[in-house]
Amino acid sequence: MKFLLFLLVMSTLFVSIGFAARDGKTLYKKCRGCHGINGRHIPFERKSGFLAGRNKEEIKSIIQAIKNGSYPSDKLNNIMQKTISKFSDAEVEVVSEYISRFKK
Ligand code: HEC
Repeated sequence: MKFLLFLLVMSTLFVSIGFAARDGKTLYKKCRGCHGINGRHIPFERKSGFLAGRNKEEIKSIIQAIKNGSYPSDKLNNIMQKTISKFSDAEVEVVSEYISRFKK
């Protein structure tokens, strides 16, 4: 019984460390070079890419489209897509949550 309890405590610890290492802020570090620290920079003077003030579901569906390759892309988007394609579904979720908190 004590051993089981020990296992439970250890696994909870590992899970929380795992999550801490991939919070939205850390993930967004891969995006802010182009999108700006608060999602307010439009990369390369495009028409889209202003991320601040948008809701989570919208952001998430775009990120998912970028991830699976269905977002219309060009050269610059390919850099973004390379980054995003390595994100797990859980990471897409947390980074969308993080971005949706940027104020317009
Ligand atoms: C190399 C620069 C670059 C990086 C890094 C980058 N992006 Fe982008 N992103 C762009 C460009 C350029 C656009 C606009 C593309 C276009 O012309 O539609 C864009 C568009 C977007 C859009 C769609 C915005 C809209 O208005 O439809 C989302 C969402 C997005 N990026 C999220 C991210 C996330 C999340 C990351 C980090 C994982 C990231 N981007 C990293 C350059 C980048």
